[in-house]
Amino acid sequence: MAGIGVVVAILVTLVAVLIPWLPTSASEEMDRIEFVFWFATVICIGIFALVMAVIIYSVMTFRAAPEDESDGPSIHGHTGLEVVWTVVPAVLVVAIGVLSAVVLSQNGSAGTNPLKVKVFAQQFAWRFEYPQQDKLKSGELVLPLGRSVEFDMTSADVIHSFWIPEMGQKQDLVPGIQTKIVVTPKRTGTFTLVCTELCGLGHATMRAPVRVLSQADFAAWVKERQSGGGGDPGAAVFTAAGCGSCHTFSAAGANGKIGPSLDNLAAAAKQAGQPVPVYTRESIVNPGKVIANGYSDGVMPNNYGESYSAKEIDALVRYLTGAKQ
Ligand code: CUA
Repeated sequence: MAGIGVVVAILVTLVAVLIPWLPTSASEEMDRIEFVFWFATVICIGIFALVMAVIIYSVMTFRAAPEDESDGPSIHGHTGLEVVWTVVPAVLVVAIGVLSAVVLSQNGSAGTNPLKVKVFAQQFAWRFEYPQQDKLKSGELVLPLGRSVEFDMTSADVIHSFWIPEMGQKQDLVPGIQTKIVVTPKRTGTFTLVCTELCGLGHATMRAPVRVLSQADFAAWVKERQSGGGGDPGAAVFTAAGCGSCHTFSAAGANGKIGPSLDNLAAAAKQAGQPVPVYTRESIVNPGKVIANGYSDGVMPNNYGESYSAKEIDALVRYLTGAKQ
């Protein structure tokens, strides 16, 4: 029986170890989650091997002969065995519970000096704001290495969910309330933030790039973004507002398919009987006014006029219509 148990344990261990079930960790929180995962997995392998050993051994050794139709012996109770199979699982489950509670508490703590990032989700884009860096806005999530980041999150429309697989932590964004999550990046690199709550037509496209930089590079990025970066301010708004996740716009290399293409605004404005800049501005701040053929009302959020200043919207209109700055 012991031999069968060892063989089963080795086979299951190979399945656990050889298949990459989890992405390579990129945060301190993910390291702790992995520890809980492996702690529970080792216990499961032990219990599974024990149960399989007893079953396989019993099936082979106590098999009834084909013509044997007699009842088995009547056995009632075994106090020692019953105490063991009650106490051992109780101890294991309590151990997993205590370990999970400790990890949850540690993963929820941002320490004394976290970087704060506000996260805004809406169908179907992510936006980020850095309140300690003069409310710097970005459509790309850039994080410094080795510093706890506290995300303060909300949604403008439906429930979305924040998840960077390599960072482990996951949290819903719910309209009307603020939710929090902490991530402490432990290696530099490029990652992807994905929405993991089915939130509508463009759910599968609701992603945002994540870059983890050294602390010095992060400071340089903040400085460059605060000085305007020398680029087109309209292009910056286009990126920060996540327009490209729903719209195609060749000048920005965007190929979203949720909303109408922005490559031929002149024709659309002509159809609506308006000058191009007027039509474009109206379609941004009041998207329900004119609905392009084949598209539905109520898909594009109608709060861009509140989220962005008049100056930013002006820059975006000029950028989209190709007017000179
Ligand atoms: Cu947002 Cu799915």
